[in-house]
Amino acid sequence: MIKGIFPLEKFKTLQTPFYYYDIDLLKKTLDIVKAESEKYNYHIHYAVKANANSRLLSIIAAYGFGADCVSGGEVQAALDAGFPSNKVVFAGVGKADWEINLGLDNDIFCFNVESAVELDIINELAAAKGKVASVALRINPEVDAHTHAKITTGMKENKFGINLSLLHGVLDKFSVLKNVKLIGVHFHIGSQITDMSSFQDLAIRLNDLQDKLEARGIIVENLNFGGGLGIDYYHPNHLAIPAFENYFSVFHRLLKLRPGQQVHFEPGRSIVGQCGSLISKVLYVKEGETKKFAVMDAGFTELIRPAMYDAYHRIENISSDGELEVYDVVGPICESSDVFGKDVELNKAHRGDLLAFRSAGAYGEVMASQYNCRQLPKAFFSDSL
Ligand code: LLP
Repeated sequence: MIKGIFPLEKFKTLQTPFYYYDIDLLKKTLDIVKAESEKYNYHIHYAVKANANSRLLSIIAAYGFGADCVSGGEVQAALDAGFPSNKVVFAGVGKADWEINLGLDNDIFCFNVESAVELDIINELAAAKGKVASVALRINPEVDAHTHAKITTGMKENKFGINLSLLHGVLDKFSVLKNVKLIGVHFHIGSQITDMSSFQDLAIRLNDLQDKLEARGIIVENLNFGGGLGIDYYHPNHLAIPAFENYFSVFHRLLKLRPGQQVHFEPGRSIVGQCGSLISKVLYVKEGETKKFAVMDAGFTELIRPAMYDAYHRIENISSDGELEVYDVVGPICESSDVFGKDVELNKAHRGDLLAFRSAGAYGEVMASQYNCRQLPKAFFSDSL
């Protein structure tokens, strides 16, 4: 079994559970994102929701990327980390007035607007400040992302975006509303998408939409395709960096751009997913009647993805070379859904062994909670242990 390369001796001195980030891998991933996106002059806005750890944010900001935010808190975190406000995009179906005002005060690049009523409110708040807000319409393209139902966003029945059938009504509003300016269209069809045909469908859908917009005399400057590129949860060691080359080339091949149009993406998971692991200690090896349990000191409070989306995370016993045995790996939380994996093969586990839950860099730390009055764990970084 190939194990991640972890500084075990140092880990033994740290209080578990904790998140561990491989900064070298993060930078290698960012180098590739930069090189591949620059080939086509595509713009990258890192999706802060995937991981808002301030150290990671400042590393990503230093690459010159922008930020994709879905709350006022994320806008502030992005600005604090050094993302320039003119590269911040702000999406979300429910933006509170103070959040919109924060965006207006900082002259962010764009509000990704999800409904006609939201457009009215942004117009009203911008007018009160004597400003004109740049907006992109988030359109629900009715493209199937072929991913888990809870992370699918681009279907008619999802709450996100403006339905295609309602788009013309929203476009009509721009001739009346004087404090909003249409600068683009935005899409995000879902997350952990590994089937490139979904992105092909999205690009083709955009081409159809452009024809329709053009028929109304509208050519928008910015086309934003959101995030969604998946990672390989089964092979974090062999496939540590997602296939950004294929991903961007799908859009390059299929998009029929009008002169001067700018293309934007909002990758989250694909940038930070593989560089993070959750490190947790075996509290007990509990023998059940039919099962053997590795009872961990981390639970769904530190990594909720298995409980929430039935997600698979590779689990490695980094303390043991013993024979492989089969365990249900469970947390200490008083809920039967607090299970990381059933029938998991691990090197023989003992009390005190450290287990690594791999590919936890995205939607791990950022979704942690204090349920059961637990403390939020710390994060450590490979370059500063
Ligand atoms: N842009 C928008 C508008 C989004 O809603 C999202 C993610 C992204 C970009 C980034 O998507 P990514 O590249 O990371 O797939 N907690 C779930 C994932 C929720 C994704 C929400 N939106 C999980 O753990 O799988």
